[in-house]
Amino acid sequence: MLDLEEIGKRLRNASPGASVRLYAEADRVRRAQVGDAVHLRGLVELSNHCRRRCAYCGVNVARAIQRYRMTEEEALAAARQAKEFGYGSLVLQAGEDPALTQTWISDLVSGIKDQTGLAVTLSLGEREPEEFEAWRRAGADRYLLRFETSDPDLFRRIHPPLPGGEERSRFDLLRILRELGYETGSGVMVGIPGQTWDSLARDIQLFHELDLDMIGIGPYLRHPDTDLAHCPELFPPAKAEEQAGGDEETVCRVVALARLVQPKANIPATTALALINTESGRAHGLTRGANVVMPNLTPVRYRRLYEIYPAKASSIETAEEINETIAVQLAALGRHVGQGRGDSPNMRQRHAERV
Ligand code: 5AD
Repeated sequence: MLDLEEIGKRLRNASPGASVRLYAEADRVRRAQVGDAVHLRGLVELSNHCRRRCAYCGVNVARAIQRYRMTEEEALAAARQAKEFGYGSLVLQAGEDPALTQTWISDLVSGIKDQTGLAVTLSLGEREPEEFEAWRRAGADRYLLRFETSDPDLFRRIHPPLPGGEERSRFDLLRILRELGYETGSGVMVGIPGQTWDSLARDIQLFHELDLDMIGIGPYLRHPDTDLAHCPELFPPAKAEEQAGGDEETVCRVVALARLVQPKANIPATTALALINTESGRAHGLTRGANVVMPNLTPVRYRRLYEIYPAKASSIETAEEINETIAVQLAALGRHVGQGRGDSPNMRQRHAERV
């Protein structure tokens, strides 16, 4: 295993030679551990309501934007579409929306399981352990909850707690999810103002210590209508040499290092990475450690409202168009679409070790 110092060194080393070596190593490990299949997950953005005030996020509660919540039938239709496209799983994502109640999500999950049999991933924010438990009973397989940054002070500033009451940390929630038998995913944004190279190196080490089954990594993208963009005095960058970059190469080095520290995890080439280099961001992700892509199946009329970062809205392709692009890109890379649920080999190994 790479130790923290080694991770930090390779993370900071932006020289072309070092990057070529790092990417080649990550690609080799990716092929050996998870193979050439690229798993497709249909992403359904259920609701842009959110009770949080995250300083980076375009759907935070302080913004006066048009809000939507999909109906159960709309979500089921998206699931059937994922099935028709041959995807093995569906990701149900939303802001932290209390109107997506325990029962409503449970019913939706069991409906999707009944109608499609797809693996179901939830990404609904910080919810109650009882809810996690009920959703798992209803058939949910996986949960995604990024810890965003391991720097507790920076996290608190960009993700203010809800008014009133102690909250469980995201690390506690990840542990609870794992104990409930979820395949568990987390990850970070790269290049947050105030995020240091050292803390980013620690994030990568944590991917291993948390034994994550899925790891999502994307650049921090400035949303002009958020506190992070408006109040730079509240979110100063770290000292010049200490501030972590948020450019494509840095994100790719984090993806590559994630593959090295957690070889059997499923790692997506994220939408945010594809967005900062529309030409080849996704292909770069896939050749530098990633093995998953998440095509967006949210109905287009809602998609423009789920603007967690800008230009996400303008990246509107229909699901058919995304499928077409991905098929061409994968063929060019000598890769193929994964069949079946695409369970994380990391989780399969964990279960095998238990018996
Ligand atoms: N830039 C990049 N990523 C963002 N996310 C939210 N807002 C932004 C932004 N402005 C990411 C967070 C969250 C995930 C769903 O989207 O990491 O966990």
